[in-house]
Amino acid sequence: MAETPANKAILLIGASRGLGHAMAAEFVARGWNVVATVRGTARTRLHDLADTPESRVEIESLDICEPDQIAALRARLSGRVFDILFVNAGVTNDPNETIADVTTAEFVRVMVTNALSPMRVVEALHDLVAPAGTIGVMSSGQGSVSNNTNGMREVYRGSKAALNTLMRSFAARHAKDSRAMVLMAPGWVRTDMGGPDGRLSIEESIPNVVRVLLSVQGTPGLRYLDYLGNTVPW
Ligand SMILES: NC(=O)c1ccc[n+]([C@@H]2O[C@H](COP(=O)([O-])OP(=O)(O)OC[C@H]3O[C@@H](n4cnc5c(N)ncnc54)[C@H](OP(=O)(O)O)[C@@H]3O)[C@@H](O)[C@H]2O)c1
Repeated sequence: MAETPANKAILLIGASRGLGHAMAAEFVARGWNVVATVRGTARTRLHDLADTPESRVEIESLDICEPDQIAALRARLSGRVFDILFVNAGVTNDPNETIADVTTAEFVRVMVTNALSPMRVVEALHDLVAPAGTIGVMSSGQGSVSNNTNGMREVYRGSKAALNTLMRSFAARHAKDSRAMVLMAPGWVRTDMGGPDGRLSIEESIPNVVRVLLSVQGTPGLRYLDYLGNTVPW
């Protein structure tokens, strides 16, 4: 018999606003239990979602760039089992800034936040994911090396391409893992990061992102997929 949604749980990293918040709302709408993280102690849109009647949202705190905080979250969640772990948190820099312009500090900030830290979260928390569950990370179409024919967003692209490669290495190290793994390209979406010119509204992207995540459950191996479920060339 199929499990009822009430038994399903997602651990969602980086859900204060934007796409992460929308993913939390979408899983709530589908009747899932949601454990989602924000940075710091300020009230966020996730708190508003958690306050709505019937929503099963637990809010945790995590700055993904702080390894001590990752370890503390892992300890607090000990004994819990999740159907999905999804790491959404990410940053960008000035999109026009090329490798010729970027400071070392800015390069390190973007690389550490978008490539190293999501993988540290995956390494630390993946054992909380059920054998038939899914481990997902928010990548970007900009992370595709093959599709990079017009440059721009050089540092951000490099960080997401690095994330993709690190996730492939993780998947290779766990080649016999029964869990599905996904690098997600949500499309260019109008958020604080995507800006007002993005091609998609949050409503056009995120319900599809969630549908794709649910569609791969139970199918082992790593996929790089867009919000419509199409394979993105590496
Ligand atoms: N929007 C797009 O067009 C687009 C396209 C492709 C991929 N993406 C990816 O989708 C993800 C979400 O993007 P978005 O558009 O929703 O961006 P956003 O509106 O700027 O939101 C970014 C989210 O990441 C969190 N975050 C950033 N650094 C963090 C850290 N060190 N620790 C914990 N949380 C951190 C932010 O938390 P705070 O509120 O605390 O800052 C916020 O919740 C990112 O990985 C982004 O690269 C976005």
